[in-house]
Amino acid sequence: MLALTTLLALLPLPLSLAAPSPPYPLHPRQAATCTRALLRANSEVYLAAQTAGNPSLLTALASPNFTYTEDFVARNIKTGTLATALALAHNRTIIDTTQCATYTEIISTDPKTQRVIGTQLRYDPTGKVLVKAETLVTREGDWAFNATQTFGYAAKEDGLWGEIAARDSRAVIRAAGDAYLDLFNDASVVVPWGTPCHRLEGGWYTGNGSATDSCNVGVPSGVAITNRRYVIDEVLGTVDAFVTFGSRPDSHEFRVEGGKIRFVHTLTVMRNVTGY
Ligand SMILES: *[C@@H]1O[C@H](CO)[C@@H](O)[C@H](O)[C@H]1NC(C)=O
Ligand SMILES: *[C@@H]1O[C@H](CO)[C@@H](O)[C@H](O)[C@H]1NC(C)=O
Ligand SMILES: *[C@@H]1O[C@H](CO)[C@@H](O)[C@H](O)[C@H]1NC(C)=O
Ligand SMILES: *[C@@H]1O[C@H](CO)[C@@H](O)[C@H](O)[C@H]1NC(C)=O
Ligand SMILES: *[C@@H]1O[C@H](CO)[C@@H](O)[C@H](O)[C@H]1NC(C)=O
Repeated sequence: MLALTTLLALLPLPLSLAAPSPPYPLHPRQAATCTRALLRANSEVYLAAQTAGNPSLLTALASPNFTYTEDFVARNIKTGTLATALALAHNRTIIDTTQCATYTEIISTDPKTQRVIGTQLRYDPTGKVLVKAETLVTREGDWAFNATQTFGYAAKEDGLWGEIAARDSRAVIRAAGDAYLDLFNDASVVVPWGTPCHRLEGGWYTGNGSATDSCNVGVPSGVAITNRRYVIDEVLGTVDAFVTFGSRPDSHEFRVEGGKIRFVHTLTVMRNVTGY
């Protein structure tokens, strides 16, 4: 990865001269500032904001035209979930440098504030300006909700979602996730099942730790999964999709290795989507 100073040296003109005020067209090399390191640092700002219950830590990165939703409904971020301090038992982030976006899964097992949350953050092409945040906040009453159990299973997978040496393309990773999502409305879809494979849906988990554990243990039929918004990380072989699951706000995150699905994490909010 090139240092910022190297990038600046490669620009045809010194930025300090005649730098116009934004908005101005980005030089292609400026777009290259949307790096893993920057997006990782931004995701840590998000985690710090949630841990502190201080949305302004995150909104310091936000564009004036920034949009924020919870469970696919527009909210004021200042009075939303970020305003409640959460002790985090678990966090895991995937990074999409192509779209300049991240997805973060967090779990709080504190009995007073049990939450399992998934958040997609989208930036402008520099990676420095947050333009859209969507968060799904599951709690008591949501699909199979039990944060203690979710945490127990997620922790068992620690170390199994790491960097992949032989990487799949974005298209292959996304196609694996899409095949799984399509299966709910078309039983003839061929899903690239990996083995072993585990599904974590709320506090519900498939498999018993044997080498033959399968994710091909059935899905509901006749459910159209629409409005898919992806975050794709080739380094971690993972895609997250925020979707309308039938009528409900939902996230499906897939870990894909060699084109095959090895882990699935889902969040489903048990009420209708009323907007996005
Ligand atoms: C919002 O602002 C960001 C940068 O601040 C810009 O990239 C984006 O195009 C703007 N979107 C709209 C809809 O104006
Ligand atoms: C997020 O998880 C990492 C371990 O994966 C941990 O080191 C870090 O402290 C966690 N961050 C927060 C804010 O809890
Ligand atoms: C969540 O799961 C734990 C561990 O299995 C169990 O002890 C607890 O009663 C469950 N909580 C709820 C609210 O079902
Ligand atoms: C795990 O589940 C499979 C399929 O249900 C079963 O055949 C196998 O005996 C189980 N293994 C263990 C260690 O419980
Ligand atoms: C929305 O939810 C209500 C129950 O809260 C249900 O009766 C209704 O059928 C749902 N609408 C759709 C489009 O699923």
